[in-house]
Amino acid sequence: MCGIVGYIGHRDAWPVLIKGLKQLEYRGYDSAGIALLEDKIVINKSKGKVADLELKTEGSQFQSKIGIGHTRWATHGEPNDINAHPHYSGNQKLAIIHNGIIENYQAIKEALLLKGHQFVSDTDTEILIHLIEEIQLRTKFDLQEAVRAALKQVIGAYALVILNEDNPGQLIAARKGSPLVIGVGKGEYFIASDATPILEYTRNIIYLNDDEIASINYDSLEVVNLDNDVQVPYIHELEMEIELIEKNGYEHFMLKEIHEQPRSIKDSMRGRIYPLDGRVELGGLKEYAEKLKNIKRIIIVSCGTSWHAGLIAEYLFEKYARIPVEVEYASEFRYRNPIIDKSDLVIAISQSGETADTLAALSIAGLKGATLFGVCNVVGSSIPRMTHAGVYTHAGPEIGVASTKAFTSQVTVLTLMALYVAQQRDVLSKQKMQELLTELEKLPDLVETTLKCEDNVKKIAGIIKNANNCIFLGRGSAFPVALEGALKLKEISYIHAEGYPAAEMKHGPIALIDEQMPVVFIATNHSSYEKVISNIQEVKARKGMVISVISEGDLKVKAMSDHTIEIPVTNELLLPVLASIPLQLLAYHIAVMRNCNVDQPRNLAKSVTVE
Ligand code: F6R
Repeated sequence: MCGIVGYIGHRDAWPVLIKGLKQLEYRGYDSAGIALLEDKIVINKSKGKVADLELKTEGSQFQSKIGIGHTRWATHGEPNDINAHPHYSGNQKLAIIHNGIIENYQAIKEALLLKGHQFVSDTDTEILIHLIEEIQLRTKFDLQEAVRAALKQVIGAYALVILNEDNPGQLIAARKGSPLVIGVGKGEYFIASDATPILEYTRNIIYLNDDEIASINYDSLEVVNLDNDVQVPYIHELEMEIELIEKNGYEHFMLKEIHEQPRSIKDSMRGRIYPLDGRVELGGLKEYAEKLKNIKRIIIVSCGTSWHAGLIAEYLFEKYARIPVEVEYASEFRYRNPIIDKSDLVIAISQSGETADTLAALSIAGLKGATLFGVCNVVGSSIPRMTHAGVYTHAGPEIGVASTKAFTSQVTVLTLMALYVAQQRDVLSKQKMQELLTELEKLPDLVETTLKCEDNVKKIAGIIKNANNCIFLGRGSAFPVALEGALKLKEISYIHAEGYPAAEMKHGPIALIDEQMPVVFIATNHSSYEKVISNIQEVKARKGMVISVISEGDLKVKAMSDHTIEIPVTNELLLPVLASIPLQLLAYHIAVMRNCNVDQPRNLAKSVTVE
């Protein structure tokens, strides 16, 4: 949540910062702002998107080689010009951008008010910059020392960058709990919440660690920890194709990412499955392969779409690896004093690897002695760094706020993990493994085939686009797919939608069914097929409009549905991924027809780094 960028070097800072902010806008788009250092600090900020900031500053000439920028997802204080970042200290000598939450800001504010500080915004960030200023005034510390002293008083999470009028060739950056990366170019440095805005300039990236502070000058960089011990930063060389962060002719990132799924799923499986040998290789879990034999229970912690991937994993692990699984909302788990011990394996699933609740849940499980695994997309993010082992999903950068390819890659990787655990525990025959992996290998091609349903889905979208409500129903591993279909629809089209296990409908939601209610069934020819058919009849009997996702050629369900979407006939193992594709397209086309901002739905942010 909140995107931050910084630049110091030989280029004009304004265009670098504006472009970077646009690339980070998926992290929040309540307001945008930039501070440049000309002969003094110049701040421009605006409620709304980066485009609004551009509009507001149209015609202005900026000439600065150093600056910081911020795109906000509001936590403290409503989204308006005043609460927009950057914030500045009373004498305007320091400007700050910040991502995270200062939990004890109220106590700090009260102390600063007594010392005569005055605040203009409602943000916790403004308090922090005043605290730093106060320390400087009191102690004559240089800025780095003052920032260190201030951060020792702060409770909460932050990634921050500070611009200093008294030292015009320096940026100070620090992080705890919120991501921050530094790009190392030739005679220039870039700072950002993730590597996306940096990629075009350099592939040499430093991931700042928690409690580290970087002092960045035009020609040097020094990193220390909160105790002032010098740290030697490791420069990673990033491998990422630039086309992955551009729209490439698609109208929206979401549509591009939906269509990228044959490739992203292939990347999730690359080098990991050996169908002829009936073997799965997961390098990231190798050191824990033995331990998996004695694990008594798996607990999955995650949020939102990643939680849906976890629910699918529950079916997979229980069915194939015969190990009990509990799937928990990370936000609930963390406050429940959960009963966990050394024999438990806790798996965190997260696209961003930065979700605050998931991080907190992991940390509690770690304190109780559990083995911690991560399933993440963003390489080098916090979750992979705090887990014992894990598997990257390799879906590539996901820019659309609504998760699509990251979700199907999570499901793919979790399928591999379930089979890997089964292999370690020796609960599946080699022949069965060969059979399942042979099916799995076909998944990218089958996704490609499934995408051909788009024109048909678009027609159905046109028919139901004005609905006020929609229900999604499925059974078995199609139930979490129904939940995910409902989430996609509600978050990007603002149509109220609910996902339910199909049989559960008659315990309440059936009261909602009338001619106005579209009901989307996942009714493929797998286990519970006949039972789902009965559920369809229950809806038809109450005049609901039935839209069924069916196995290709299934005339029986077609005859009883108002509309159908066919997906290829496959092994049930592939059902969750394949059935998700038409539901992503349905949500997408409805949202476009309703003129909604598909890539940046209201009130949302991609990376939820606050609880
Ligand atoms: C919905 C969506 C969110 C995320 C959730 C967790 O489309 O993307 O529900 O799944 O915020 O985020 P990660 O996976 O980054 O932990």
